[in-house]
Amino acid sequence: MSAALEEATPNAAQVPMIEARGIHKYFSGTHVLRGIDARVAHGEVVALMGRSGSGKSTFLRCLNRIEEPSEGDVLIDGTIITDLRTDVNSVRADIGMVFQDYNLFPHMTALENVALGLIHVRKRPRSVAQDLAASALKQVGLADHLTKYPNQLSGGQQQRVAIARSLAMRPKAILFDEPTSALDPEMVHEVLDVMRTLASEGMTMVVVSHEIGFLRKVADQLIMFDDGMVIERGPTERVLDAPEHARTREFLGALK
Ligand SMILES: Nc1ncnc2c1ncn2[C@@H]1O[C@H](COP(=O)(O)OP(=O)(O)OP(=O)(O)O)[C@@H](O)[C@H]1O
Ligand SMILES: [Mg+2]
Repeated sequence: MSAALEEATPNAAQVPMIEARGIHKYFSGTHVLRGIDARVAHGEVVALMGRSGSGKSTFLRCLNRIEEPSEGDVLIDGTIITDLRTDVNSVRADIGMVFQDYNLFPHMTALENVALGLIHVRKRPRSVAQDLAASALKQVGLADHLTKYPNQLSGGQQQRVAIARSLAMRPKAILFDEPTSALDPEMVHEVLDVMRTLASEGMTMVVVSHEIGFLRKVADQLIMFDDGMVIERGPTERVLDAPEHARTREFLGALK
């Protein structure tokens, strides 16, 4: 929305970029998300934490319909996207996702991996898509690696290609699911640096991560999952430094 239009509509700024209302998910009878509500403002960074199996990935995947919620709605910028008539490919282009294991096509160069969605989803001509892909790769510091294949890149570089692939689509938000947990320690910082820059440029982000130092600097809000429910949420510093729920204390204690 243009700045002028935003000013003309007083509520526009308050409409969350992402809103989840009463999300439930069952996997063959197992109730893994048990009524999750969340609001992510424009430009906000929200962290999700919680023990393994608590439902963080499933919830994240419901936000761009890689997983269909069994019940509840997701709204992006005020529009319900869980309506089955909504085109899921455009939802996934608008709400990018970065996975732990990069998910790049091994037989395509970095440039081709990034250009693919621009060509097939955003319907850009190949030459335009390649220019946009090159500039997204430059943005993540990979200008010198456009023609390399994933197996010629380090894990940190591959993850930056995956981030560029999301960015190139000009998404409204990007979801990150443990983006650094598969990386060798010396490569973690290069990915976190890119994410920190994106956040400072106003990208709306939801991040599953246990990188406490990073979250302290970057995440505005922290949501604690336990057994398919939110047990605690609040400003990141408050939750980290003065957790109210015994299970949050237990979880954070185990991380140290
Ligand atoms: N496709 C699936 N089919 C059946 N069960 C699933 C599926 N995906 C997830 N689950 C189950 O749903 C629950 C939540 O899983 P989820 O992956 O969302 O947890 P998580 O918090 O991301 O865990 P982790 O920290 O290990 O990544 C788990 O019990 C898991 O086994
Ligand atoms: Mg997970």
